[in-house]
Parts: sequence; structure tokens; C-alpha cells
Amino acid sequence: MLKEAIFIKLCPPVYRLLEYNRTHKASEVPQLPQGTEVKLLGWVAVKNLVGGVVFLRLRDGSGFIQLSGRRGSIPEEAWDEAAKATTESAVYAEGTVKEDRRAPFGKEVAITRFKVIAGAEPWPLRKSLLKSRSALYDLRHLSIRGLKTASMIKIRSELMRSVFDYFYDRGYVYIQTPILVGSAVEGGATLFSLKYFDETAYLSQSAQLYEEAAILSLDRVFILQPAFRAEKSKTARHLTEFWMIESELAFTELDELLTVEEELVHHMAEHVSLSCSRELDALGKKIVVPDPPFPKIDYEEALQIAERKGVRLEWGEDLGTEAERIVSQSFEKPVFVKGYPLSARSFYHMEDPHRKGVSLSADLLAGGVEIATGGQRIHEYEVLMKRVEEHGLDPERMKWYLDLRKYGMPPHSGFGLGVERALKWMLDLKHIRSASIFPRTTSRLYP
Ligand code: 4AD
Ligand code: MG
Repeated sequence: MLKEAIFIKLCPPVYRLLEYNRTHKASEVPQLPQGTEVKLLGWVAVKNLVGGVVFLRLRDGSGFIQLSGRRGSIPEEAWDEAAKATTESAVYAEGTVKEDRRAPFGKEVAITRFKVIAGAEPWPLRKSLLKSRSALYDLRHLSIRGLKTASMIKIRSELMRSVFDYFYDRGYVYIQTPILVGSAVEGGATLFSLKYFDETAYLSQSAQLYEEAAILSLDRVFILQPAFRAEKSKTARHLTEFWMIESELAFTELDELLTVEEELVHHMAEHVSLSCSRELDALGKKIVVPDPPFPKIDYEEALQIAERKGVRLEWGEDLGTEAERIVSQSFEKPVFVKGYPLSARSFYHMEDPHRKGVSLSADLLAGGVEIATGGQRIHEYEVLMKRVEEHGLDPERMKWYLDLRKYGMPPHSGFGLGVERALKWMLDLKHIRSASIFPRTTSRLYP
């Protein structure tokens, strides 16, 4: 007796859920014939009591379905439970599928049994709160239940699937590289550091250097994992933690790399557009799938386009927010900007043998922002060592990376594409944080 009481106390949900097994998901109900008995589990999205009839909109992750019951016509216990269920309570419902022209999808479930499994306090997400973006993100742990945010998360899930499909179908190997690293890839200014026993470690800015080691074993690899940047700038396109798709290809020069990038971007957009029609409708968005080839312009042409719109930059500077927006918006499709000056690039970029001071690299701009950076890497030891020194990097920390150039390193290229930036472009999002379930920015570590 005592044992049983302890069990119930410790594990009440499991103990109670045994009798509340579901037979269907909400999204399946409209396809079921009238009279089908169903058992559902989910949350109360909306509840209305009208003239002795309770109407509930049940949400269960797959979709929504209307439930209804009339007082006196359904068992008293079911009525009491349904009448007391508050918005966002977790509930169990049994009932019969019924055609009803007034119900969304033309079908509803006539309640025969109802149980509140976990009640909910008054829902704090009120209309007045919704006006403040920041307040909404303070309550992100709750606001993700909304149809729009849930749709966004599902779209992101499909985007991830499309990335895996693209690379696996073409024989690339998926590798996972360390998040805790000893040196910078993209410069020291955006490194998060932490104490690592007696040393300093950093959160990885990019998997690239490890991918370069891996291609010597596997030829073509990709990663899909978080990257970290201590970006001080509060902009609508920077996160401090974001997810990056990166790929590295042995025996590959820049032009072939750009073909891979544009095919991947096309594949991602096409897959999301075909597989997420319900979610895109919920967001009121339509994806324009860009067909390769994408336009490719030189950095100098990009400077001219920006200058014509009033943004003047010196040769050698990075394009920056305004110029990227102007250049990107001058093209209907995503556009590659090639031939960035070495001075605007990280240490590993290869110099164009025909243009002094110019790198063999390209950024992909879309929706007004840079969504990817790629390029050919230095594959010769002496050249790389010279560059490491010019950039004031510690050759000791770079030893293993330099070492790769001593043991059969062929010409090779790779790129990194930000998942949230890609979504920002595809869905024309105002702010990049909407693309992340729990975004991390300079001012946000919770929830
Ligand atoms: O241009 P980045 O810094 O390039 C690299 O890290 C290379 N090592 C990648 C490679 O060649 N393997 O970053 C690549 C992409 C950017 O184009 C952008 O889409 C995204 O990562 N990104 C960010 N996204 C959100 N917030 C930030 N703070 C980002 N920084 C970069
Ligand atoms: Mg970049």
C-alpha cells in the first residue's frame, strides 16, 4: 500500500496516462468517416461556452480540431472537466467524429469523455503584450505554442532535412567537429572565451579548419552545427549563437564550389516550398525558388553599384551592411560577389594568382544580407605560414592546421552558410531571431 502510494507520488503522469492513450492526431480527424470513435491528447488552444455548449479547439502539434459537447447530452463528469478546462491546459478527449459545416475543416468531435491532465494558469500572453517584441521574446518559452512560431520551427526542421538530403545524395560525409577549440578561425574580435582548466578555450566560430583535415580522409564533408560569435553589434542579422552549414571539398576550385552553393540553396528553397505549404500559408509567405545559375559579379562592380546608391567604400574595405543590402536588392536572385580584397578576408584565403591582393573567394548575398561565404584555401605550407605571421597569429596554436600542408594537401575549397540567415532571406523575416526557437543575442540569454 505504502509502496503504491510512493509510486503514484513519484510518477503521477505515467501512472495516470496509461488510461489516456490516443488513437489519432488532430490533423487526421477531418479525413475520418462520420461516426469514427477517436481518443485525442493535446492542449486547449481556445475555449468558448455558448448557451450550454462547450466548444474547444484542441492543438496537438499536428494541427487543430474542434471539440464540442452539450450540457445534459454528455456525461456530467465530461461536462464538468471540459467546462473548467482553461486555455493551454493539457487534456484528453474521447468522442465521435461528426460532420459540421460550421466547424473548421467541416468535421468536429462530439465529446463523450473529457479529462484535464494538467491545468493551466491564466495565459500571460495578452494582445497588449504582443506589441512589444522584447516582451514576446521574454515569454518565448510560451509564445512558441502560437501557430506562426510553430510553423516557423517546422519550416526550419524541413530546411535541415533538405541539407542532409542534398549532401548525403551526393556522397558527402557528415562529420561533427569540436565546439571547444583553442584558436580563432574568423579573427579574435568575435571569440567567446572560457576557462579550460589551466588554459583558455573558445567556442567555435566555424568548423572549417577541422573540415580541411577531414577532407584528406574523406574527400568531401559537411557539417550542420552551432557556431558562436561574440558580435557586439545589435542588428537584425546577427545572433551570438547560430547554426551553420559548412562544407569542404578536396580537389575543388572556386567556380565549382559556387555551383555547389547555388545548387544547395536552390534545393533548400525548393524542398521547403514543396513540403511546407501549410506552414507557409500560416505565415502568409510564399517562397520564390531561385534557379541556378545565380548572377556572379566582381567586388569592384559591387562597389560601383553601392556608390551609385550613395554608399562610397574604399577598395579593400568589407562591403558592410548598407552596401550588401543595396547590391543584393539590385538582383532578383541571390547574387555572388567574387574577388574580395585579401585585406577584407580571414587568413586562410588563397590569393588569385592573376590579381595581386585579391582573394579567390565569394559571398552569397540574398534578401539584403550575406547568407554564405566561401572560397579556395591556401594549400601550400610556406604560403600559409607567411599569412599566419602577417595576421599576427600564433604558429604554435596553428601547428596542426599548418601540418596538414605537409602531407598531401591538394587545392581545395569550402563554404559556410548560416541557417538563420537563409531563413531570414527565404521568408523575408524582419529580424533573424524569429528563425531561432530560443535565440541568443547580445542581450538575451533567457529563456
Ligand atoms: O562569413 P563567415 O564568418 O565564414 C566562416 O565562418 C567560414 N569559416 C565558413 C567556411 O568557409 N566554412 O560565416 C559564414 C556564414 C555567414 O555568411 C552567415 O550566413 C553566417 O555564417 N553568420 C552568422 N549568422 C548569424 N549571426 C552571426 N553573427 C553570423 N556570423 C556569420
Ligand atoms: Mg562572411
